[in-house]
Amino acid sequence: MTPFSRRRFLCLSAAVIGGACSSTPDGSSAPSTSGDGATPTPTTTPTTPVTTAAPTTSAPLAADPFALGVASGDPDPTSVVLWTRLIGAGLPDTVPVRWELSAEDDFATLEADGVETATADDGHSVHALATAPPGEWFYRFSAGGFTSAVGRTRVPAADAASARFVSASCQNYEHGFFHAHADIAEQRPDFMVWLGDYIYEGGGGEITPENGNVRTHGAVEPTTVAEYRARYELYKRDPNLQAAHAVCPWFVIWDDHEVENNYAATAPQDGSDSTVFATRRAGAYKVWWEHMPVRLPAPTGDPAQDYRIYRQVSWGSLLELTLLDGRQYRDDQTCGDPPLNLDPACPETFDDTRTMLGGEQEAFVAASVGALGAAWTVLAQQTVMLDLGIGEAVINYDQWDGYPAARSRLTTMFAERALANVVVLTGDIHLGGVGVIRDGEPGVGEPVATEFVCSSISSNGNVPAEQAGALAELFADLVDAEILRRGYILHAVDAAQWRAEYRTVDDVKAETSGVSTWQTFVVDAGATAVRPA
Ligand SMILES: [Fe+2]
Repeated sequence: MTPFSRRRFLCLSAAVIGGACSSTPDGSSAPSTSGDGATPTPTTTPTTPVTTAAPTTSAPLAADPFALGVASGDPDPTSVVLWTRLIGAGLPDTVPVRWELSAEDDFATLEADGVETATADDGHSVHALATAPPGEWFYRFSAGGFTSAVGRTRVPAADAASARFVSASCQNYEHGFFHAHADIAEQRPDFMVWLGDYIYEGGGGEITPENGNVRTHGAVEPTTVAEYRARYELYKRDPNLQAAHAVCPWFVIWDDHEVENNYAATAPQDGSDSTVFATRRAGAYKVWWEHMPVRLPAPTGDPAQDYRIYRQVSWGSLLELTLLDGRQYRDDQTCGDPPLNLDPACPETFDDTRTMLGGEQEAFVAASVGALGAAWTVLAQQTVMLDLGIGEAVINYDQWDGYPAARSRLTTMFAERALANVVVLTGDIHLGGVGVIRDGEPGVGEPVATEFVCSSISSNGNVPAEQAGALAELFADLVDAEILRRGYILHAVDAAQWRAEYRTVDDVKAETSGVSTWQTFVVDAGATAVRPA
């Protein structure tokens, strides 16, 4: 380990714990193709292409209800979910919403169409399952005399052998502008893997030089369905976010801030009453579903019930993507979840029974990872999996370092199955990083996966400029890290090679900003090393 001062260590470590050296701390965060009975009933049948007339479906509405844009998600080789949500004063309890899917962006002929009923109970959200063969498609909605923006989506071929896609997370509205989303829209990727922190729950404060915020939530911290809906509406009105949704289908999972920072199962961050928190969580989960283009059944809203979002999807024969939920079933963080502590971790951290994913999800992972025989085996999940411990200290109890036995069960599974070409996609931590996940000690154990950590769309990082650049020296398995700038990763993958291009925003606080490439990292199929391109 490189010698370093305690102050320097604290600041560098802040990159993985958040806040210690930052003047503006974060404040913190389908259908299953494997089949589990969760897939909603298809709401359409494919149609013979026909010429379409201007659609009319319902009584006139007083104002355009499509201010939140359109989205698509969870495509498989025969279908894709189309999403929108109507908003506006005086909407009837039920509104028929027509949707159309076409190969042409002028909708001269239709591949499929249908009508969904948007209901007040579900926030007037629409999740339509459109059936279509592989290819590029355009879609739109209409209701009450208004027509939505046009979205572009893709249905993957069952034998797709290459892909360009994005992994991204963490878009605190107050901390910065969504320039990264504008760049994503320009890149026209095949799809997005969204790793969570779609909203942040913090109450809206003043915009001051001290906090460095550029926008405000303008509302109290949400705890009710109505308050969470208003928070999503604020985010979804952002034109760059709408553009990133309209350009490609998204596979979406959540992290913690869709409910509350660093919650664990039904344990809130502040240790307050878990029954009260369970009600809040159930509402937040329902509102998350209302706003996401996911092929998942509507949550019941019952605080006593879990809501399963983990699932396995694929992109042709190229990518098996297992989408995980590291929040809903985890054991609480140990040792009081201190923000930074260099003392040896308390003994319960190493309890073999502790879990990040919960027993059922671990069993699902064990049964499904590698099962599709794709060229690349991918876990898309929330928190950093590579070992960032320092001696016996755990510097961030919220990451996999705080759940070492659970991590070991995963890495041992990878090693025992001799799974080649395993990639872990990670968000949460607001830095761009690339590293090696080992089964065993840092720098010593058998390498079993490459981890790509995607920085944040806009959420504050936590390491000051003068401390950047040396983080990789502290950790044996961290290959490199970009700490200062916000961004995302543009992945270009075929059966022979994975290229991860780290796109970074020049100035997330400025109303206009360029986006450029920091570095590209490469993994050759069959190799265990990741290297700069
Ligand atoms: Fe985050």
